[in-house]
This record gives sequence, C-alpha cells and structure tokens, in this order.
Amino acid sequence: MQSLKKVDVHNKRVLVRVDFNVPTDKKGNIIDDTRIRESLPTLRYLVDQGARVIAVSHLGRPKGKPVEEFRMDKVARHLGHLMKKSVIKMDECVGPAVKKAIEAMAPGDIMVLENVRFYPGEEANDPEFSRQLAELADIYVNDAFGAAHRAHASISGVADLLPSVPGFLLEKEVTMLSKVMSGAENPRAAIVGGAKVADKLTLLKNLVEKMDVLIIGGAMANTFLKARGLNIGQSVFEEALVDTARELMEIARERNTKLLLPVDVVVADHFAEDAKHQIVPVDQVPDGWMILDIGPETVKAYRQYINQARTVFWNGPMGVYEFEAFSSGTNGVARAVASAPAISVVGGGDSMAAVYHLGLQNKITHVSTGGGATLEFLEGKRLPGLVSCDFRQQMVG
Ligand code: 3PG
Repeated sequence: MQSLKKVDVHNKRVLVRVDFNVPTDKKGNIIDDTRIRESLPTLRYLVDQGARVIAVSHLGRPKGKPVEEFRMDKVARHLGHLMKKSVIKMDECVGPAVKKAIEAMAPGDIMVLENVRFYPGEEANDPEFSRQLAELADIYVNDAFGAAHRAHASISGVADLLPSVPGFLLEKEVTMLSKVMSGAENPRAAIVGGAKVADKLTLLKNLVEKMDVLIIGGAMANTFLKARGLNIGQSVFEEALVDTARELMEIARERNTKLLLPVDVVVADHFAEDAKHQIVPVDQVPDGWMILDIGPETVKAYRQYINQARTVFWNGPMGVYEFEAFSSGTNGVARAVASAPAISVVGGGDSMAAVYHLGLQNKITHVSTGGGATLEFLEGKRLPGLVSCDFRQQMVG
C-alpha cells in the first residue's frame, strides 16, 4: 500500500476524489458538513505540501446532467470558510477551461470542480470520461470512503490511469472498520437496528459469525420476535424472512454468539408522534398495538453487554427515534456505546444523527462517514474505491 505521505506532491497537480455528498435543504444549503470537515486533514496536508489541489465530488443524484440545486458552489464556499483560504470553483469538471485554470494555479492553491455526476460518463465509468479526468492531474488521491462502493469514473476508471494513493480519511475508515471485524480486542459486540432485516441480511450473516454478542433492535427485531413465536400485534415485520431470522438464531446458537432481542417494548395504538403508548414485556403486546421502540429493561440489558465489550459497532436506530416518545431506546444505546470502555465505531446516517444530536461524537472512537459503503465493507464485499487505489482491503468476509 502506497501512503500519501511517501509521495512527493510539491507543485504536482493532485486530483482528490472526496465525498462532499452532504445533506442539503431545498435551497441547497448544507445541513450537516461532517463529510467536508472529515476531508480536511487530506486537503490541508496537500495544500501545506504545496500541491495544486483539484477536489472532485458528486452531490445528490442529478443523473448525468446539470441540476441547479446540486451545483458545488455552496460546498466550495463552505470549504473555503473551513480552510480559511480562497477556493477556486469551476463550473465544469473537464475540458479546456478547467485545464487552463489548473495551469494558472500556484503551489498550495485549491480548486473544486463541478458536480462530477453532471456527466453521464461518471456513473457509466466511461473510459473516455476517465481519460479526460486523468488528463487534469499527475497524481490521484481517493479520500471518498462514502462513495467507495461505486465503480464510477472518478473512483475507479481514473485510478487506473494515474499513480493512485488513498487519502487519510479513506485509510482511517478502513483501519477502524477492519478493527470491528478482526484484529480488535474481544469481546466484540454489534448492535444492529433499523427498519428491515432484508436491507441488512448479509451484514447480519457476517456479524453473527464474527461477533461475540449480536444485539438487535428497531423494526427488524419484530421479525425475530415473530420467529420466536411471540404475538407482536400490529407491528410491521417481514413475513418472508421469519425463517431466515430463525436460521440466524440457530447459527448464533451453534457459533456461541449471544443474540439479544428486546425483553420489553414501547407499544403504540397507532403510528403517530402523539399516539397513546405504554411499556409492556415483550410477550404481552396487546392485540392491535404496535412496537415502536425497545423498552427500558431492554436498554439496561443491552447496556450491560455493551459495557463488557472491548470492541463495539452500532448501526441503525432502535425505534422510531424521530418521534420523541419512541426515541429513548436509540438514545439509550447511543449513550451506552459512548460510555463503553471499548473501541467504538458507529456507522449509518440515523445512528450518526443520534450521536451528534446528543453531542456524543467525541466519545465515539470512530463515526464512519459512509452509509452504503460502510455496510458493504462490513458485509465483506470488495469495494471498487479500495481496489482501484491499490488499497489492500483487509479481509473481513
Ligand atoms: C452516500 O451518501 O452514501 C455516498 O455519497 C454515495 O452516494 P450515492 O448513494 O448517491 O451513490
């Protein structure tokens, strides 16, 4: 693995693929700048080394054509604000105007190209578009962990045409996520929540084999409760995956993995923020009611296991946490993960939002910037963005 610090970048044109795909409101204002902040160590390093830094990213899903709300202007302005430095913003990604502007750059200058997904060649991983991107630079740095699962031109194609190295964020993500699955201290606990087993089935299959403790919450727990033969009232569950849930519990038994399900739950008489609700033992869900959160006894039990672990990974909410009345489970787990005497890694938008909402981000060892990329990495898949920049992904599959 080539390390960025070993490459002479002075006065070189360095194309950096970042993931500036930040959440924005309808006017394109940035709601959460975490991904931009997380790219700063690499960008600052390159600027300090006197590279001519050309940052490129996607924003949203404009489907191969310019879409005003997805222009990179606000992102470039915000980057300038964070770096306390003027940032050159281009209205294109490739072509003569971009080349000319790069020629005029001085060592330590930084430029942000237009949204790379305005070009159909990006998602198609078109060789001609990759060539046009590669023409802009001498060196390629991939720091876009959040987009590493996409085999696109600015992630995959261009890396074959230029000397390529991973950026610091990409390295950090891979190191920390690898620790979750292997090489870290035991016991290892994973907490997985969210709406559907279907969305995280491969992840669950991998975790049940690798973890000492697998904790389940959120609506996906309902399918497991059903598989145990419990009455879950009107709660949503995945009929087609009840047998799969049973098989996972069987594998857990064989592998000696402790698989934890809720012992009490918060049930509501309908799905609404102000619904009538009560806490009941998990085997006493009243007919017609639905489970919308894990209960306090469950939080207590989960906390105990989280506290004993030396490596903890958390992905997915424990209930409908965007409704105050059903947020205690998610908040309780967030606090438990933050106070665990362990290497703690949190991945996924909802868990990350809960951590930031409670101001616990500095108490977590690593909050991953990836959504789909984090899950695919932990599923054991080979991510194009890691393969392309010659980053030897540690085997987790
Ligand atoms: C993400 O937000 O997960 C990444 O930026 C990838 O975006 P995408 O799902 O639109 O490819």
